[in-house]
Amino acid sequence: MKKLIALLVLVLIGIQFIPVERTNPLVVYDIDAPANIKTVLKKACYDCHSNETEWAWYTEIAPLSFLTVKDVNEGRGHLNFSEWGNYTNKLGQVKNEIWEEVREEHMPPWMYRVVHSDAKLSQEEKDILRNWAMDK
Ligand code: HEC
Repeated sequence: MKKLIALLVLVLIGIQFIPVERTNPLVVYDIDAPANIKTVLKKACYDCHSNETEWAWYTEIAPLSFLTVKDVNEGRGHLNFSEWGNYTNKLGQVKNEIWEEVREEHMPPWMYRVVHSDAKLSQEEKDILRNWAMDK
């Protein structure tokens, strides 16, 4: 048992040396939306869906760092509020998807909500998001 724990500790130390890249690329075109919408998106979505990620302290520690970097890269790939110009031709569809994910409570992901309590949206915040998403 002691050997196993020692091995585990060594592995945990070892993986800290695996390089991970926490990037914040330039903001190309921040979303056009009223201030109250942006406030909600910023606190609940921007960490994974923008180039303005606030990398929390725990994202410095492997293996959490691997998981968060993967989430952010994947999230940006699906939807990036810092590249809003890419969606000009399909704004209605993108806004629909945003509302769908929030309505079904897929987004923000529950694990993120556990750590970021302010990312749990109130009914009022959901209502203003819905009204914005429906208004095309
Ligand atoms: C912790 C990171 C994280 C946060 C915070 C987050 N997302 Fe996501 N989001 C992801 C990842 C990863 C994916 C891609 C995988 C998936 O669909 O689950 C994704 C996918 C999406 C998609 C695309 C779904 C599809 O089927 O293509 C939408 C739309 C979306 N998120 C909206 C939001 C909105 C709106 C918020 C804030 C209310 C939000 N997300 C917060 C990580 C996040």
